[in-house]
Amino acid sequence: MRLLAVVFAAFACFFASSSVVADDPYRYFTWTVTYGPISPLGSQQQGILINGQFPGPRLDCVTNDNIIVNVINKLDVPFLLTWNGIKQRKNSWQDGVLGTNCPIPPNSNYTYKFQTKDQIGTFTYFPSVGMQRAAGGYGALNVYQRPQIPVPYAKPDGDFTMLVGDWYKASHKALQQTLDSGSSLSFPDGLIINGAQSTFFNGDQGKTYHFRISNVGLTTSINFRIQGHMLKLVEVEGTHTLQNTYDSLDIHVGQSMSVLVTLDQAPKDYFIVFSTRFTQKVLTATGILHYSNSNSPVSGPIPAGPTYQVHWSVKQARTFRWNLTASAARPNPQGSYHYGTIPRARSIILANSAPLMNGKQRYAVDGVSFVMPDTPLKLADNFNIANVFAWDSLPIPPSGGTAVLGTPVVRFNLHDFIEIVFQNTENAIQTWHLDGYDFWVVGYGFGKWTENIRKRYNLVDAVSRHTVQVYPNGWSAILVSLDNQGMWNLRSSMWARQYLGQQFYIRVWTPEKSYSNEYDLPPNALLCGKAIGHHP
Ligand SMILES: *[C@@H]1O[C@H](CO)[C@@H](O)[C@H](O)[C@H]1NC(C)=O
Ligand SMILES: *[C@@H]1O[C@H](CO)[C@@H](O)[C@H](O)[C@H]1NC(C)=O
Repeated sequence: MRLLAVVFAAFACFFASSSVVADDPYRYFTWTVTYGPISPLGSQQQGILINGQFPGPRLDCVTNDNIIVNVINKLDVPFLLTWNGIKQRKNSWQDGVLGTNCPIPPNSNYTYKFQTKDQIGTFTYFPSVGMQRAAGGYGALNVYQRPQIPVPYAKPDGDFTMLVGDWYKASHKALQQTLDSGSSLSFPDGLIINGAQSTFFNGDQGKTYHFRISNVGLTTSINFRIQGHMLKLVEVEGTHTLQNTYDSLDIHVGQSMSVLVTLDQAPKDYFIVFSTRFTQKVLTATGILHYSNSNSPVSGPIPAGPTYQVHWSVKQARTFRWNLTASAARPNPQGSYHYGTIPRARSIILANSAPLMNGKQRYAVDGVSFVMPDTPLKLADNFNIANVFAWDSLPIPPSGGTAVLGTPVVRFNLHDFIEIVFQNTENAIQTWHLDGYDFWVVGYGFGKWTENIRKRYNLVDAVSRHTVQVYPNGWSAILVSLDNQGMWNLRSSMWARQYLGQQFYIRVWTPEKSYSNEYDLPPNALLCGKAIGHHP
């Protein structure tokens, strides 16, 4: 008996100590990243391609698959991919942001190893270094359910992915230079769908198709609609929702959702429309939904959508609800159904701002504009390297003083259940993302958040997602169960804001060192900065 226990412990330890799990399937990818010509807005420019493609290859996998991606960097600048919304359980080593990973130098490679643990849904990946994301390098990452797990809708007759976002004609280096010189980004030049100004979907009358839509842009919220058709919302970033139907849907920067569309109209072609939200000038991109038995081209006006109406968007966001009876991968394995009754260990308020510092545009959170050191924070913490970041140096609540530069890491205990209030002090929409987690979005509102507002939270069936919008001069409140040990990036999803300092890291940790809490530094980890010479 005792021997058995020891053997079992050794066995468990052997598999648990590696970031991939033995009995789940493996999927291997080799991705070569290069520059290449692309023409998303008609004129040719230099894009970032993965295996020659823009957008990059769609990564399709199944819940709990082990994903092994060897990324070969053939650019002239360091490169990293981050897996937006993939939780990287116990494994912030693979998160692919500069606070956790050294960038892959030119003509070099790094092999990511991670598991799509307990997730089903629509996600993306994108380059996280500098403004590279503005040149492409992004793609779809769809996690399908395992055969034995039912999802709350019939198998669709087809599955279409749409990566939509604002686009600049300027190169990623030019955009980065603009930001480095202290200017903010200008208004984007256009809106693109799957790397082009138009797109085409062919379907059969009477059938139902799954459309997965992600906003991969840099700055702009979008509205999505299909002429003459209703959109039945089924999933938001891995949460199965109540299946409400909508004429059109708002999708903010960094967010994903999926809808079912039944081709229940007369056989002809219909407009698929994306347009920018909350912008003075409205950018529009259209595609075609073609019925296979159609002989008529698209006709009629392009269906109008909301443009500036902020309240419309808030009202819609409040209708997104978690389907509590849907059996599927859960946002959290245990204890999550009653998220509304779990006591809060801490509550923090995060206020965004756009200060000028030394005459240059910066972006800050709680008065601190984040500066990325040469050494990833995760490696500095792992090797006990001093003077890379400063523990708990974010003034929470914000002090309201002059903004400063800094590299804060805010510490939390593993399994803390916390509230975060994003207070938008600017007259522009914001979106915030937390790596390693999804969180319940329990409320949105206008003005200054106060404790009284908690009475109005949705504590029953809020959606759990990884990116939340915060309306102009408004607030959004989230609840997070900090059950994933590691160093995690909390950031603006609007990439220029992130690049110029609107981000920081949280460390979720327990003094008890255990493979059941966190994997070890992978043996192939790249080392840089002050981590050079330390051995994995
Ligand atoms: C680079 O690729 C090779 C295989 O071509 C692999 O053996 C090696 O581990 C990779 N390097 C890293 C750091 O992952
Ligand atoms: C919720 O999920 C259940 C179980 O799969 C399904 O039967 C039901 O139709 C869904 N409810 C709504 C309102 O979407």
